[in-house]
Amino acid sequence: MVWYVAIALAIVGVGRLLRHMRKVEPERVEITRRELQYDNLPEGLDGLELCHVSDLHITTDPRNSAVVAEAIRSVRADLYLITGDLIHGPRGAAALETWLRDLTDSMRPAYAVLGNAEHKLRINTGAVVDLLRGLGIAVLNNEATVVRTARGAIQIVGLDDPHSGHSNPPLAYSNADPDMWTLVLVHSPEGILGLEGRRADLVLSGHTHGGQIVLPGIGWLSDNTHHSVGLISGWYDQDDIREKAGVVRGPRGLYVSRGLGTSGWPLRLRCRPELALLTLRRS
Ligand SMILES: [Fe+2]
Repeated sequence: MVWYVAIALAIVGVGRLLRHMRKVEPERVEITRRELQYDNLPEGLDGLELCHVSDLHITTDPRNSAVVAEAIRSVRADLYLITGDLIHGPRGAAALETWLRDLTDSMRPAYAVLGNAEHKLRINTGAVVDLLRGLGIAVLNNEATVVRTARGAIQIVGLDDPHSGHSNPPLAYSNADPDMWTLVLVHSPEGILGLEGRRADLVLSGHTHGGQIVLPGIGWLSDNTHHSVGLISGWYDQDDIREKAGVVRGPRGLYVSRGLGTSGWPLRLRCRPELALLTLRRS
């Protein structure tokens, strides 16, 4: 009898846990606010607000896309920076178009790079790029651009996805100005391995989803990278990057978002979806 009760309670407990992981935690978008201090930041850029959007994984199954849209609408930033994996699966582009049409006015100006989800088989990568550009989102495919904000100019280098082998740092930097303060967008933190000796004051990445499932006492199970650099979520300074990834003359700072959507199993545990609001500060 005691065994039956124990088994019944265990089944109820597992059911509740799965419900939390599938329905509750993915809906709890956390707006992370952080100030990033730089002694080399041009004076005019002090206070520049960056909204980092990553790993939306929009599909025909709406999952948490409504709360993600609500979170994006609730913030104001000078620049919106999207670090790939906007779609999930072959029908993702159509779903993304519907979702973005109501939202792009709330996220201007926006700059994006592609993730591995946009390079998968059966995905028309060019059509996704055209869709984004048609909605006023600039896509940087291994290229650099200078953005003139009300606070001053900032250089953005956009690398195509390194996880699927499309990143080309020499090409991306071929027209970059080494004397300008430089923000790099790259889907996966693996991308920093190609930044040795290149100017990167701040790198924004995603892809890891912060592990997506973080077990008590164990931590994250996978960072979903081919070349694990142990940079799973949050802020890493130059020393962290040197120690973990062995990149000696690499980026001065890296922020890895936990992302907003889910991939693989659509579950999250102790790893809420994240919309990062980063403020640049001159120290
Ligand atoms: Fe990814």
